[in-house]
Amino acid sequence: MAYDIAASTDFFHGQPYAMWQEQRAESGVVSAQGDGAMLGGHSVVAWDAVEAVLRDPVTFSSSINMAHIGQFMGELIVGLDGEEHRRYRNLVAKAFRQSQLEQWDATLVRPLINDLIDDIESAGRAELVADVTAKYPVQVICGIVGIPKDEALQFQEWAVQINTGPLNPEQGFAAKQAMTDYLTPLVESRRAEPIGDFLSDLVHAEVDGHGLEDERLWGFLRLLLPAGAETTYRVFGNALFALLSRPELMQRVQADLSLIPGVVEETLRWESSVTMVSRVATVDTEVAGCPITAGATIGVVTGAANRDPMHFADPETFDIDRPAALHMAFGTGPHQCLGMHLARLELQAGLEIVLRRLPNLRFDPHDNGPAPVIEGLAFRGPTRLPVVFDSASASTPR
Ligand code: HEM
Repeated sequence: MAYDIAASTDFFHGQPYAMWQEQRAESGVVSAQGDGAMLGGHSVVAWDAVEAVLRDPVTFSSSINMAHIGQFMGELIVGLDGEEHRRYRNLVAKAFRQSQLEQWDATLVRPLINDLIDDIESAGRAELVADVTAKYPVQVICGIVGIPKDEALQFQEWAVQINTGPLNPEQGFAAKQAMTDYLTPLVESRRAEPIGDFLSDLVHAEVDGHGLEDERLWGFLRLLLPAGAETTYRVFGNALFALLSRPELMQRVQADLSLIPGVVEETLRWESSVTMVSRVATVDTEVAGCPITAGATIGVVTGAANRDPMHFADPETFDIDRPAALHMAFGTGPHQCLGMHLARLELQAGLEIVLRRLPNLRFDPHDNGPAPVIEGLAFRGPTRLPVVFDSASASTPR
């Protein structure tokens, strides 16, 4: 075994890719008894096996996603199966329509990232995680829901407390109530008078004459920040880390911003923020020759699939010129990420504006802090990104 199991599987600081590489070389699935099996069950690590599990929601149910967090978040789209899930998804999908995305790009996403860069560009140095990436997708989601920018922090705090409710139930339930109290007037006003925004779409959506039940509306609103902001901000940081660690590539992309879509897709493949999703077997079955009994939990390691050499040439290398191919960053099958177009739009706009407005962007050579690193087992992102750049003159275009 060439990897250290404790260092590989540490939830916050883990470096699991070497472990997954070895496991994948041995078999597509690691059983509950094997080293490094996630979530007390099986880990599925090869591309074909990951795809097979995620595309078979009858044998591999998502109900496990409701087990612990449901009491704090409410009825979650990620925890439903079959017809129930299809109906819920069709209703909320209406709020992510193309015209809405185009409007967010121009009126919300680009102004928000530009404002964040306004705050740092004259200094010539910044810590991009604290100053930019950790703030930006949270503000986007809050803006979409209709929460003012200066209240985004409070909203984020509730979202974190709800998300960690299983560890601190009292705090989790209090945050659930506080968020509901805060959002109720907004929901009521859109109910009474739709104004064509995201929330109006959600409360008035109908499929086959049925709207979104209250518990599901609240469940969806409570899920939005963890699903949409925690994920996107880390991938944004991973993309910046990839470029900052490769100064020649950074220069190439800063000189030719048309390369950014390739940077976005390659980051999503090489270092997505979400490395695994959970399922539970509904019947006795097998995956890649590994028997799995009914009721067994399964960690479906999309991050490992994204580096499967049977699917990607030279998969450990970050290569923005590799031929376009599907990756698993957003999952696949009926639960494939509903916000993936918004995420891509935020990453594209974010990188474009950061790279254009912070010329000669590079790691701070005089930084004395711990070396920046991407870390984490199930959620991966950079610890910090201390940078310097040529500070702006008044004429730098926004
Ligand atoms: C780079 C950023 C993102 C990544 C890596 C990501 C990843 C994922 C993954 C892997 C799933 C599948 C879960 C499963 O199969 O159990 C998922 C589902 C989901 N994502 Fe994302 N996501 C991102 C951004 C977003 C954004 C911006 C939003 C919304 C604003 C969003 C909303 C959702 C929702 C609602 C689902 C559940 C879909 C369903 O169960 O039918 N995500 N995401």
